This record gives sequence, structure tokens and C-alpha cells, in this order.
Amino acid sequence: MKTVKIGLLGLGTVGGGTLNILQKTLPEIERRLGQRIEVAIIAVRDLNRTRTVETQGIEITDNTADVVNHPDVEIVVELMGGTTLAKTLLETAIKNGKHVVTANKALIAEHGNALFALAKENNVIVNYEAAVAGGIPVIKAVREGLAANKIEWIAGIINGTGNYILTEMKKPGADFAAVLKVAQELGYAEADPTFDVEGIDAAHKLTILASIAFGIELQFNKVYTEGISQITADDIRFAEQLGYEIKHLGVASRVDNGYSLRVHPTMVPKSVLIANVSGVMNAVMAYGNHVGPTMYYGPGAGAGPTASSVVADIIDVIRWKDQPIEDRVPPLGFASDQLQSAPVVSIDKIETSYYLRCFAQDHVGVLAKITSILADSNISIEHLHQEPCAQNDGAATLVMITNCVKESLLNTAIASLTKLDDIEGEIMRIRIESLRS
Ligand code: NAP
Ligand code: HSE
Repeated sequence: MKTVKIGLLGLGTVGGGTLNILQKTLPEIERRLGQRIEVAIIAVRDLNRTRTVETQGIEITDNTADVVNHPDVEIVVELMGGTTLAKTLLETAIKNGKHVVTANKALIAEHGNALFALAKENNVIVNYEAAVAGGIPVIKAVREGLAANKIEWIAGIINGTGNYILTEMKKPGADFAAVLKVAQELGYAEADPTFDVEGIDAAHKLTILASIAFGIELQFNKVYTEGISQITADDIRFAEQLGYEIKHLGVASRVDNGYSLRVHPTMVPKSVLIANVSGVMNAVMAYGNHVGPTMYYGPGAGAGPTASSVVADIIDVIRWKDQPIEDRVPPLGFASDQLQSAPVVSIDKIETSYYLRCFAQDHVGVLAKITSILADSNISIEHLHQEPCAQNDGAATLVMITNCVKESLLNTAIASLTKLDDIEGEIMRIRIESLRS
């Protein structure tokens, strides 16, 4: 059997998981492939760090250039993270004729257009299954499995850390910072966890999903992004009472004259399957014009699940690397000269219903003022709940669900409401999606 040598950049959560699979399950993998895989070299930052995975017989270096310039390495597997050094290294690897596998969604979302072009020029493959939704093979499913369809929309829970936090926050007395710390200890969070909490990681993944769904160039800087850090335990409780779950969703859809790409906390009716996806699990729904709604579910982060996708990509590269470039699946699933640079519309243009929560002085006439301002923007209240505000004597917490309205109109109404003396502090707004179509 022929042996294919690979080099790893990084031996942390995902790198360690990858090496572990390539040790524990190698015979089964080689039986699938009919070829041998050998990890020839691994680069790490700290040579003295204790590793939980066996590295005997493998060259370990702290010089990353040794991996991308290694004469025997055919596949460079980038599991370091970041967009600076990782980008330079992968550019060098590609120019050296090496195929690339990466789990780095930031790199693909921000620099994928150029990396894919460089890979085409150099006749090499760049695979990135682990970059979106960890262990779920969603890139392959949507890019290849749904290739017969015009995809209308794609939406999902695509950050494991965020979903884990929102799930744990439902437990009485849960503390946001403490729950995030556990997610970090479990290896779910990014090196900078604000990427998870503020939605940047999900925006990277949504950028990639939108491109493979619609055949558009990667446009990370156009994604509207809101995180989960403003969600309170009260919001989670009210959502529950109203029959919803709060989920941090990425949503990409076709709209008039372009596409809508957005990441934000979303209230989803409990009756919808995706509302019940909890903990570190992710789920991606894709709606194809022929197949209708589909959903892909599985662990969205962590060593084993993510490495499972990395190793599947390595196997894929080995199977395809000797085939002519025109026979391979293009990186975004559409012929590269057919990718469109479509306009992404502003969030102001979306239409949905909203959950609003605010603190208001509890006296006669306040509700009338609020409903009058909303009515001026053609917004009706479909549900209203009022209860004494625990934090503020004499104030009440008001929770409202609106009808379906354009976001720009809601913004006008919120600006007017905020100016009322009777309203205290910020007005919380959560978009509501039924994810049915
Ligand atoms: P991690 O645990 O922090 O591991 C990073 C690895 O890269 C470490 O082994 C580190 O070396 C090495 N490294 C970092 N900078 C280096 C440098 N300048 N030179 C040499 N080695 C360097 O990160 P991770 O969680 O495995 O994530 C890796 C990538 O996978 C990221 O792009 C992340 O977004 C992506 N990803 C992660 C998950 C997940 O669940 N964790 C899931 C999907 C995708 P030391 O060990 O010596 O520090
Ligand atoms: N930090 C990411 C998450 C890792 O929690 O989803 C998987 O991409």
C-alpha cells in the first residue's frame, strides 16, 4: 500500500483529537482508503507543554515553516487558528504544491476567496469541513448532497459554546461567566471566547454556509452580527412562558435584490425541531426547492467531533488529489467562474415579528403611550405581559410580542419609546423566526 505523509500545524484540542483518531482508528481508515497515512511532523508553539496524546516517532517542532516546507508532506493540516500566521503558512504550503485541510473558519470566511484561487492556480485541494458545525458533515451534505436544488435559505445553531451557554442559563441561578468557563475547559470555545459570545464565530460559519448554498463569494464583512451577552435569565424565562426557546441563529436567505446574512439571538417556537437542540449540539437547516426542509444535527465543537471532520477531509484529499482539477468538487460547490458577488441587504430590510422587553413606570397611561407609538409605525401588539420589576420598586417589566414588521419601522418605534420618561434603560429586542416555509 502507498503511504501518504501529512503534517499538522497545531496539537491543541482539534490537533490532539486528530492525532488520536489517526492512532486509534487507523486500521479502519486505511481499510477504507487502501492507502497508508503517516503523520510525519507536527508544529506546536510550546515544545515543553505536556501532551495527552502519544507523539513518539513523530518529528515535533516549534518552527511552523518546517511543516509547510517538508519535502515528504503531501497534506498540511492547519489546526492552529488565527488569520495571520495561518494564512501565510497555508499560502506557502499551497505554493509548495501541498494540499490543505483546515478547521479554521475565520481564515476561510475572511481569506477563502484568495486561498481558493491560489489553490486552483497550484492544482491543490483546500478542504474545510471542520470549519462549520464541528462534527456535522454539513459542507459535504449541502455542497454535494443538495446539488440538485436551488437553496432558498439556510439557518442554524452554528456555535457550540453559545448554545451550551444558552442551555445552561435555563438552570436556576446559572452564572454566564461560570458557564462560559466550563465551555472553555471542555475545549469548545475559541482562543478568544468573545468570538463565540459576540457571534463572530457564527458569522464566520454563516459566511461559508451562504457561499456554498447560493454560489456567492465569501463576504464575511457583510454579515449582520449580534451576540448573546445581552440575553438575561428573565428573557429566557419569558421566552419559555410564551412557548419559545432563545437560540443563537445564523440565517442566510434569498431576498428581493440580494441576500440577507445575519447572526443574532432568535426566539424559535418550541414546536420547531431546532428549538430543541441543546448543549454543545449544533443543527443546520437548509431549504431546497425540490427537497424542501432538511436538517443536519450533531456535536458542534470539541476534540473528537471536530477531528472526525478533519480526518474525513484528509481521506477525501487522498482520494481526489490525483484526479484532474476539473473533476474535483469546487471548494464552494459552484464552478469558480460562476460565483456571484451578490449584494447583501441591510438588516433594516428584514421583516419579522419581535419580542420586546422594557422597564416602565407603573402608572396610569403608560401603556397607552407605548401602544400609540407602536401604532404610529403600524406595529400591533399580539401579546402583552406585565409584572412587577424585581430590581426596581414602582416599575414594571413589560414584555410584548409584535406582529410581523419591517426592522426599519421597529427601529423608529424603539427610538421614540426610548425617549419616553416612563421607560427606563434600554429596550431589549429579540427577533422571532418560525423557520417554516
Ligand atoms: P487550541 O487548543 O488553542 O490549539 C492550537 C494549537 O496550535 C496548539 O497546539 C498550539 O500550540 C498551536 N499553535 C498556536 N499558535 C502557534 C504558533 N504560532 N506556532 C506553532 N503552533 C502554534 O485550538 P483548537 O481549539 O484546537 O482550535 C484550532 C482551530 O480549529 C481554530 O481555527 C478553531 O477555530 C478551529 N476549531 C476548533 C473547534 C473546537 O471545538 N475547539 C471546533 C472547530 C474548529 P501549543 O499546544 O504549544 O500551545
Ligand atoms: N468555538 C466554536 C464553537 C468551535 O463553540 O462552536 C467549533 O467551531
